[in-house]
Formats: sequence, structure tokens, C-alpha cells
Amino acid sequence: MSDFEDKVREALAQPQNQGEMSDADSVGTVGSPDCGDMLRMWLKFTEKDGKRVIDRASFQSFGCQTAVAVASMATELLKGKTPEEAAQLSADQLTGDLGPLPPMKIHCGQLVEGALRDALGQAPEKTTAPTTAPTLSS
Ligand code: FES
Ligand code: FES
Repeated sequence: MSDFEDKVREALAQPQNQGEMSDADSVGTVGSPDCGDMLRMWLKFTEKDGKRVIDRASFQSFGCQTAVAVASMATELLKGKTPEEAAQLSADQLTGDLGPLPPMKIHCGQLVEGALRDALGQAPEKTTAPTTAPTLSS
């Protein structure tokens, strides 16, 4: 059993953030032509210290265990990131401690990256009313 398989098994024992998010601000979907798998990712934003950040992320994957493990890791990693920071994360970075993925499984990480980018692209500019009321100067 390779180190990689061990790590995937460990991640799959307790996948994080799995399932549809009913109050999401955006959702992204991608399919992989390599294996016919599909992954969907939901994002919920919030305001923190005057910045818009990802409050929660969740996912659903149909089929591939590696993609589930990577998505579980990635959705944890995304919490607190601004959309700009999230957009800069590579498939490798999203894979976190699971990586580096074996060559056959590289596209599983790319699937997660693709779903994230799609979700970021779908995100509305503003989601919630500003938490601090605007000050009136007059
Ligand atoms: Fe089965 Fe990717 S679809 S391993
Ligand atoms: Fe295709 Fe993992 S997403 S094998």
C-alpha cells in the first residue's frame, strides 16, 4: 500500500464538507473527459475585517475517490480565503498533504481546481449587505 493510498484512505474515512449547500452564493461544476467523473463545488462568502472571504465550501463528486479526498482537503483549505487568494491556488496546492498525486491521478486535483474556478466565476460581486452601516457625513 503506497503512502498516497494510505493518505487517501485516511481522508476518505472522514470526508469534510461533503454534500450540497442549500444557502450557497455560487456553485461550480466540471467534468473530466479523462474519466467521465464530475465534481460540483459550492461556496458561501462572508465579510471579515472589511474583506470578502470564503466562509464555507462544500462539494459533491460522482465516482472518483481521489477527487473526494482532494475536494475534502481543498474545501477545508479554502475557508477564510478571499476570492482572489482562492483563484491563485493551483491544483497542487489544493491537494495539500495528499500530494503529490501519482501521474494517473493528477487530473483528480485538476477537477477540484476546475470546479473551484467555475464557482468563483459564478460568484456575485457582493453577496451580503455590509456588516457596518455606512456613515452619513451630513
Ligand atoms: Fe472512477 Fe475517476 S471516475 S476513478
Ligand atoms: Fe478522474 Fe479521479 S477525477 S480519476
